[in-house]
Amino acid sequence: MNRKKLNIGLFGFGCVGYGLYQVLEKTPTLNATIKTICVKDQNKPRPIPQEHFTFDKNAILCDKDINVIVELIDNADEAFDIVSAALRAGKAVVTANKKMIAEHLAELIDLQYEYKVPLLYEASCCASIPILRNLEEYYDNELLESVEGIVNGSTNYILTKMSAEGQSYQEALSQAQAKGYAESNPLLDTGGFDAKYKLLILSAHAFGGVLKPQDIFNAGIDRISHLEQQYAKEKGLKIKLIAQAFRKGDGTISAFVAPRFIRPSDKLYQVDDVYNGVTLKTVFSEDQFFVGKGAGAYPTASAVISDLSALTYDYKYEYKKINQNKHVEYNNDVLLKIFASCESDYKADVAAYFEETSEQFSNGKHSYTIGTITLSNYIKLYGEKPVSLIVVDTIREEELEAININELVAEI
Ligand code: HSE
Repeated sequence: MNRKKLNIGLFGFGCVGYGLYQVLEKTPTLNATIKTICVKDQNKPRPIPQEHFTFDKNAILCDKDINVIVELIDNADEAFDIVSAALRAGKAVVTANKKMIAEHLAELIDLQYEYKVPLLYEASCCASIPILRNLEEYYDNELLESVEGIVNGSTNYILTKMSAEGQSYQEALSQAQAKGYAESNPLLDTGGFDAKYKLLILSAHAFGGVLKPQDIFNAGIDRISHLEQQYAKEKGLKIKLIAQAFRKGDGTISAFVAPRFIRPSDKLYQVDDVYNGVTLKTVFSEDQFFVGKGAGAYPTASAVISDLSALTYDYKYEYKKINQNKHVEYNNDVLLKIFASCESDYKADVAAYFEETSEQFSNGKHSYTIGTITLSNYIKLYGEKPVSLIVVDTIREEELEAININELVAEI
């Protein structure tokens, strides 16, 4: 089979852009060369000769020899302008920009159909884990029940360093930035926004339905203090930031991002450092687990390379789940068992949001409450009080029928 020759116009030459340049040089089997690189800063010293660069995006967008655009810039709005212009110009696009995709997925799908050119974005979700193409191709007919896991490398790195090495939050975050894992605005990582964007994309490919980012609730790791870390350690648990989307008995889907206590029996317990891990629950094959580095120059570049390779065979997403399931309903009708910790002054206020409480503790200064709460009340409580909320369990309807709530909240 004759593979297409790729003549690439690259936008962005930061950590991942340079990583891609290096990985491409070591991938001679791929018939691809970077013709021009567009960057913003004219004065920044760069590791390769100046003649490769342009500062004018049209030098790439209007170049008829360039048939593929790789978009690896930071700013999601500028990225959308570039990507949509490229698709309109009939150029295939590969991007890693999850914020841009999550904010514009419906328009980007329309543009692909209208201009008959593909947009691939495997690198946008979990970097080195080939999850999107698997959801699209391997699971095209299998009924998926849930997609959940650790999808942000920086927060996993920070939580690992805090719990395993006793580092401070700030120290661990600075290291995640120095290693090129964190977004340039690290609040996107620590506030759970990056995980939310990825969950939106994963969920569209798993279940169909294109949400808006504001439709998915995200809590981050920025309220987790050493008290919760200590509690987790005493109980033999770890805290991880978990993105989850799952189908309920009535066919509706719930999707949200929140920190969760992970038990040693959970496969995610061993997923530390910058690694991501995703568990798919399917009706027939049951649990399947994917693991790999979730951030960093080379793991992300490897996913871009894989998309480039797919383009040489004219691969495109068919959006099978989106086309099959036109009326997917997402809602927050979920019951959670959670651990809520706050300053003791707020203890009574916090308990009022719960359906049931099983345990309350206070040392006069700090207190915690364990119990069941609806996701809607979790979201309200998170917005209204200075409280750290960690999920213990997501309680599915089937389980609700089978167990007594009082028994469930009795013990972690
Ligand atoms: N900031 C992101 C993360 C980069 O830490 O996961 C990879 O998407």
